[in-house]
Amino acid sequence: MAELEKLERDFRLFSQFNGKASPLYGRLALSIADDPELMTLLHAAPEQQQIPVLLFAAMHDLLLRGDGAELAAFYPNLSSSVPDGDPFPVFRRVALANLSALQATIASRNTQTNEVGRCAYFLPVFGIVADEVGPLAQLDVGASAGLNLYWPSYAYRYKDGRSVGAGSTVELSCSTRGEPPIPQTMPKLSHAIGLDMSPIDVRDDEAVRWLEACVWPDQEGRFQRLVSAIEIARKSPPDLRQGDAVANVGALVEEVSAFGHPLVTTSWILSYLTEEQQRAFVAALDDAATRHDLSWVVAEAPAQTPGLPIPGDEQITVISLVTWRSGERSVRRLATAHPHGSWLNWESPTP
Ligand SMILES: C[S@@+](CC[C@H](N)C(=O)[O-])C[C@H]1O[C@@H](n2cnc3c(N)ncnc32)[C@H](O)[C@@H]1O
Repeated sequence: MAELEKLERDFRLFSQFNGKASPLYGRLALSIADDPELMTLLHAAPEQQQIPVLLFAAMHDLLLRGDGAELAAFYPNLSSSVPDGDPFPVFRRVALANLSALQATIASRNTQTNEVGRCAYFLPVFGIVADEVGPLAQLDVGASAGLNLYWPSYAYRYKDGRSVGAGSTVELSCSTRGEPPIPQTMPKLSHAIGLDMSPIDVRDDEAVRWLEACVWPDQEGRFQRLVSAIEIARKSPPDLRQGDAVANVGALVEEVSAFGHPLVTTSWILSYLTEEQQRAFVAALDDAATRHDLSWVVAEAPAQTPGLPIPGDEQITVISLVTWRSGERSVRRLATAHPHGSWLNWESPTP
């Protein structure tokens, strides 16, 4: 009973806080909160994964498989004309007709993301580093499917009128405040490796579909750019390594440094580590920097990463550049940004 009450509260809170970003899920969540039969589908998941988005992602996955066409009509990313009217009766009907498939997905999957929009806030920082040190050899830690290693293949449109790259199926649009130093040409990337505890293989149809299913259907642009980025990656799959951020970062910095200036990137991964692990991650970079000059672009929320040497205590994304030159570490806080890169507020004076 207490478990059901918690789920009911979680669905109501989900609707309250996310109904604007996702009107479809906001509306469905309110109805699901009154429907114990649907909510208890989440009991198939481990306790910490019993969250509304997992049920929504499992249903989205079912629709992306081609099942539940009558419900797909209500999903803006899957339908050219969404009908008026309440989607919940159809959601319920499709859920009850596919109970065991939904339960199997819920029991076996965690929500996962790989947000290519973040490349829009990485690019100016990559430009700063490349201007100083030349070609970059990137190690993306917490790389997920490795899609943020393909940043030179994407096109960038900053809403202050500047653009970089052209002719890509992935076009990233980002509004700016302040004076971000948008590079005039694409910085050179000489090598790229991704490291992740649970890497997603872009050649694996089921894994890719799940990644797509975790995007909210009202965010059509975000969904489409993910699909397009996956297509780009599938043509030449990334070099992704399975491993742990703290344990493996040092050896991989060593490996990429053979190809150019080692550039470590982390976006929304270090908050998964304990404060002690975060400190150990920084210590591993300090150690690697005794052998090579090194740069690290950090995009994390300082409130969730107290073990990092990043000034600030916000819950939002703060972009910082940490450099080690001749063994000296220096930290520059550069900007705040939307978690998916749709805006960038540059704080630092133009270099
Ligand atoms: C929220 S996703 C962000 C993915 C990607 N950085 C992005 O910006 O789209 C976090 C990723 O960190 C990975 N991760 C979590 N803990 C990790 C660890 N200790 N070592 C390596 N990867 C980890 C997860 O598997 C997941 O792919």
